[in-house]
Amino acid sequence: MKIDIVSVFPEYFDVLNLSLFGKAQAKGLVEVKAHNLRDWTHDVHHSVDDTPVGGGAGMVMKPEVWAECLDDLLGLEPTVVEATVNAADTAGTAGTEVPTSDVATMADVTTEDASPDIIATAVDAAPSSDESADVSGTPAVPADRPVLIFPNPSAPLFTQRDATELSHAGHLLFGCGRYEGYDARIPAYYRAQGVDVREYSIGDYVLNGGEVAVSVMLEAITRLLPGFMGNAESIVEESYTGENALLEHRQYTKPAEWRGIRVPDILLSGDHGKVDRFRRDEALERTNGLRPDLIAQLDCKALDKADRKT
Ligand code: ADE
Repeated sequence: MKIDIVSVFPEYFDVLNLSLFGKAQAKGLVEVKAHNLRDWTHDVHHSVDDTPVGGGAGMVMKPEVWAECLDDLLGLEPTVVEATVNAADTAGTAGTEVPTSDVATMADVTTEDASPDIIATAVDAAPSSDESADVSGTPAVPADRPVLIFPNPSAPLFTQRDATELSHAGHLLFGCGRYEGYDARIPAYYRAQGVDVREYSIGDYVLNGGEVAVSVMLEAITRLLPGFMGNAESIVEESYTGENALLEHRQYTKPAEWRGIRVPDILLSGDHGKVDRFRRDEALERTNGLRPDLIAQLDCKALDKADRKT
């Protein structure tokens, strides 16, 4: 996988030479390059931003500099497009989202009033796997088409499903915004050029720039590449993974008792069937209590009778 990152602080990504990502580079699994956006400026101050049109605080990143950089990295010639910026223009998750009308709405369910019945209700109301979006992350990104990704606190949330989808891409190009963000015409222009452009938020909070968000997305994506993790099994049973994404059960190691707290007896029983059931119940209960929104998206076909009792 080829990865280009554009930032005004490219040194931020020096850490990618460390740990598993460093090893993945050495093995040739990923080829990453961090570019300095200022290399595409022409003025003595190397300026990349300007004041917001319409007024307001802060500075906005200029489209001209970004476009020169992105044209170079994408191998595109500058042109004039017929495009407008729509309020709803966001990430490329369009088409893979579960239609909200099809899923049980859990918005007004609080942690306190979440009860086991909720699971059965949500499961019954959830779409069958045929109608629902692909939550298992079937490849939807052709490996020969670059994907241009801008972190943006005002975009849809980046999820494990996005990470799985993007792990099939051959070329990812990340653009890190700073200040009050980037001119909205930049993603609009590249979309109009037929580029697969995504904008993602990594959470409902505002960071100083896109660098941290890109690091988060990059790690979530690349650890899914075959050969990236030492132990491939460790990504199979994780939270948010697979067709029925649940929060993971709790983990314990030895000793069986530590400072007065015991590991649940069932985990010491040696009965694998019971251990699996215990872990599955715990995953369902934790998800029901902490993330009812995930319960609402469960595919009932992938649940068994015992799940419904939980
Ligand atoms: N840039 C600033 N805050 C961000 C966030 N929460 N997600 C993605 N990009 C950001």
